[in-house]
Amino acid sequence: MSMTPMIEASDLSKTYFSRHGLLGRQTAVHAVDGVSLAVAPGTTLGIVGESGSGKSTTGRLLLGLEPPSAGQVRFDGAPMPALETTEWRKYRARMQLVFQDPLAALDRRLTIGAQIGEPLAIHAIGSEAERRERVATLLQAVGLRRDQAASYPHELSGGQRQRVVIARAIASDPQLLVCDEPVSALDVSIQAQVVNLLRDLQETRGITMVFISHDLKVVRNMSDRVAVMYLGRIVEEASSDEIFRAPQHPYTRALVSSVPVPGTALKDRIVLQGEPPNPAARPAGCAFHPRCAVAVARCREETPTLQVVASGHEAACHLVSGDPLAGIANLGSAAAPVGAAFTQTSASP
Ligand SMILES: Nc1ncnc2c1ncn2[C@@H]1O[C@H](COP(=O)(O)OP(=O)(O)OP(=O)(O)O)[C@@H](O)[C@H]1O
Ligand SMILES: [Mg+2]
Repeated sequence: MSMTPMIEASDLSKTYFSRHGLLGRQTAVHAVDGVSLAVAPGTTLGIVGESGSGKSTTGRLLLGLEPPSAGQVRFDGAPMPALETTEWRKYRARMQLVFQDPLAALDRRLTIGAQIGEPLAIHAIGSEAERRERVATLLQAVGLRRDQAASYPHELSGGQRQRVVIARAIASDPQLLVCDEPVSALDVSIQAQVVNLLRDLQETRGITMVFISHDLKVVRNMSDRVAVMYLGRIVEEASSDEIFRAPQHPYTRALVSSVPVPGTALKDRIVLQGEPPNPAARPAGCAFHPRCAVAVARCREETPTLQVVASGHEAACHLVSGDPLAGIANLGSAAAPVGAAFTQTSASP
């Protein structure tokens, strides 16, 4: 298995500097701090984590929309060209971004047909009649009617607008789609439809996808593999099945325990307590230790790195080792009400 990843990041970091007030001291925000990942062609990597964990920044770095402070991105085996260069523009047609707010992504003065056809017109793909036909086909592919090409964004529902954005994103036949919270602004009933649409498109077109969400439920339905981010770093990465079946990092365990499993009562829920993470004040040692119920002295001093805990499964926690049984045994106590950082809640009826 030596397939070239469609998108690959090595040791990617992004630091922002912000000053509070005129005389305020400049603070460094380590939004992304040493992220490495690789997504195999035609598969989906889900990125999950709390607000501020660096998910969107990672997505923008992967697309080359901003330069990294350190590290490198490779797309289809080649280094990402510098922003706004001719080379980069060529790459841009091969990778697309779908984000949370479809209204902001669309121009309210243009028909949706014109907007879906825009990438085709820009890249002069086909004749005008061919482009019109292609727009109609794309509308159908995302579950809209051909005649809706003549509609304006405000005439559509939120879910329909996100379908338009998706149609436009796939118009240029991209190899990579980065979806950043694509369903978070939609009603729950509509979310599943749009997730299913993305899955269908991904499967039928073999698009490689990075799917970003704070909602592990949604990520699970979409992803082959899942990366869990905490304060700018990946703290666990595994297949979607493994993440749910055998989460290793206490943070992942807390996230997973909050996802209801269909047909079973939600029990032994671990509720995350403590301060939400602040990337401008990263705790020493393991960044999660102030909220971790099983933290030991070492966790306050030494930053854990990702270690292989099982085949295709990595976690960054001092308490998990290469022996998955030992890891689970060490962390067994996380399921019991110990420490102040976790509260145990029982099954709701
Ligand atoms: N352009 C910027 N300038 C300064 N700080 C930034 C910038 N973009 C992001 N940050 C900071 O970097 C950190 C990570 O932000 P990011 O948007 O990547 O998080 P996220 O995981 O996508 O969060 P959310 O779930 O809220 O979308 C945050 O603390 C944020 O305030
Ligand atoms: Mg975000």
